[in-house]
Amino acid sequence: MVAHRPLTEVRAAHERFEAGGLPSEVVLLFRAHRWLEPGGSRRVFVAGSAAMEFSEVIRRRRMVRHYSDKPLEPEVVERILASALRAPSAGFSQGWAFLALTDPADRARFWPFVPVRVEKTPTMQDAPLVVVPLAHKEAYLDRYAEPGKGWADRSEARWPAPYWYVDTGMASLLMLLTAVDEGLGACFFGIMPEHIQPFREEFGIPDEYAPVGALTVGYRAAGLPPQNPGVEARRRNPEEVVHRGNWGVCG
Ligand SMILES: Cc1cc2nc3c(=O)[nH]c(=O)nc-3n(C[C@H](O)[C@H](O)[C@H](O)COP(=O)(O)O)c2cc1C
Repeated sequence: MVAHRPLTEVRAAHERFEAGGLPSEVVLLFRAHRWLEPGGSRRVFVAGSAAMEFSEVIRRRRMVRHYSDKPLEPEVVERILASALRAPSAGFSQGWAFLALTDPADRARFWPFVPVRVEKTPTMQDAPLVVVPLAHKEAYLDRYAEPGKGWADRSEARWPAPYWYVDTGMASLLMLLTAVDEGLGACFFGIMPEHIQPFREEFGIPDEYAPVGALTVGYRAAGLPPQNPGVEARRRNPEEVVHRGNWGVCG
């Protein structure tokens, strides 16, 4: 249902949005609000969520480790998961799988396998969605053994990089970005090697599927601490890492 709102309410919602909280309690549907920002904004608010400029999605993305326990709308969960399937993959192998945990009882089964996160940032357990992306190497070896590809020996030595991890990482990033686009917070974090096998056993995951980490997604906690200033301080400049034309030609 479309609910038009007075301009004052829109502006207040916009300010709260800019301050880091999505005004999800305000149902807004506008086609284009060029009057929201001087010079005109291309931001479009839709019911209960905000589709934002891509550059803003990139700018706002950060790992969020504190959540409210507010549940996610099922369609939001589906959009986040669907976005992973839009990721590119070598040979379109799509050698990935995603364990999605939304039921509180299922999420509770997950947290013992990441004890450091539980100890350091216990509010991560409030996140209403946990996704474990899993890389499936066999799918790549099978795909490239097909006649059109011709790597019938299935040798891993042929691979310039383990693309099963690369692609599962790309899918993970799309989920992180989609969470931002939905006005949510998300975090990617590792599952340590000693916990992988017991984790597999708990959730019935076959040996050939390798978890690359896990994501939490949810509404950012009220009073979420600002980004660690160390992150911006340590962010590398293009001058340090971009080599132009020849290695060593930076800046
Ligand atoms: C592959 C990968 C593994 C990560 N593992 C963890 C982790 O185990 N625990 C954690 O708190 N953050 C983890 N992070 C998040 C990074 O610490 C974070 O991305 C980095 O500090 C930059 O901060 P930002 O993402 O908020 O910009 C991981 C990120 C990536 C991409």
